[in-house]
Amino acid sequence: MTQIAKTLDQLIGEGVAGRRVLVRSDLNVPLDGSTITDDGRIRASVPTIKALADAGARVVVVAHLGRPKGEPEARYSLAPVAARLGELLGRDVAFATDTVGESARQTVAGLVDGGVALLENVRFNAGETSKDDVERKAFAAQLAGLADAFVSDGFGVVHRKQASVYDVAELLPHAMGTLVAAELDVMTRLTENPERPYAVVLGGSKVSDKLGVIDNLLGKADTLLIGGGMVFTFLAAQGHQVGKSLLEEDQIATCQGYLTRAAEAGVEIVLPTDIVVDTAFPSGEREPAPRVVAADAIPADALGLDIGPASGETFAAALQGARTVFWNGPMGVFEVPAFADGTRAVAQALTEVTAAGGLSVVGGGDSAAAVRTLGFADDAFGHISTGGGASLEYLEGKVLPGITVLESDKVAG
Ligand code: 3PG
Ligand code: MG
Repeated sequence: MTQIAKTLDQLIGEGVAGRRVLVRSDLNVPLDGSTITDDGRIRASVPTIKALADAGARVVVVAHLGRPKGEPEARYSLAPVAARLGELLGRDVAFATDTVGESARQTVAGLVDGGVALLENVRFNAGETSKDDVERKAFAAQLAGLADAFVSDGFGVVHRKQASVYDVAELLPHAMGTLVAAELDVMTRLTENPERPYAVVLGGSKVSDKLGVIDNLLGKADTLLIGGGMVFTFLAAQGHQVGKSLLEEDQIATCQGYLTRAAEAGVEIVLPTDIVVDTAFPSGEREPAPRVVAADAIPADALGLDIGPASGETFAAALQGARTVFWNGPMGVFEVPAFADGTRAVAQALTEVTAAGGLSVVGGGDSAAAVRTLGFADDAFGHISTGGGASLEYLEGKVLPGITVLESDKVAG
């Protein structure tokens, strides 16, 4: 039977002092070597961990980094994250060099009330992401053996049916962390009666990642703005040549279908009219040589890397006056200054929506990192989501296994 998930406050109210609480956080941050380039997800994970530690729990944090293939790989170690988490919490974070092995058992056994430990990358264990229910559940049982209760706070992974997200909740009394609760609150505002006009900006490299969300939003949003690598498949769908730009040929027909449906439904699809191109993808080896070309006349030797300046203005104008905006995916290769202006123009337009009292939501690891890299303050936006895939799947109307499992009463508590 479905029930409302227990809140963190309720769990704490029942008394957690001296109890071992396993917290699933999403600490999947971008790294340059062992340097964290955007710690947004770590900062977002602090309130739940801190609330539990302050209440005297022995907090055992479990998380993943990157996509290792079920065995240890040094470059995906969470060790740098443990150090940063400790700084942000203002207390020591013990680091276990494995997830459910000897180091984890000893580290957890050594925790005092109010202590915090981080386990090594959960994806170093094949059971975590296994498609075999038996294998996954066996690993979840090992994780559950380390704790007395489970708190799900990794919003960025709630769309994954994985051991530390899903199966472990069936084995321990569980609650929803404050980050997951806050993210769901915003997602609800985007899907149930969003204040209009409602605009959605989509970018990023692949159309195929965004099909479900475009499908769903064509019935909900008033305006859909499209940039990033995925825009070239839309331009091709309009019959234009896209040169050497990213193109998903097998999605051209789908994009044509979206353009037709949008026209029928009265949803405005805004595509760029100019594009910043170069002859090659930026690399350390040569200076970028950006040029602006018309979106319907991309030369054969050109590779589109950002929306152009006129499009930046058109996009900003289309967002002006919106009361609700959701944005996922950069407009271009924002990491390189020559191709960052389109992303900057969209970010700036969202801050103006916020300033005018509207709701602006930045969704996804890449877009969140983009706005911070470009120097925007977090509070210039209504909400910066820690979930990319998770927020898109929510907006697609999909069931998120990591949420539904919290609403089930399979485990007493
Ligand atoms: C993310 O980065 O979107 C989340 O941490 C989930 O990671 P995943 O896509 O590798 O499951
Ligand atoms: Mg329950």
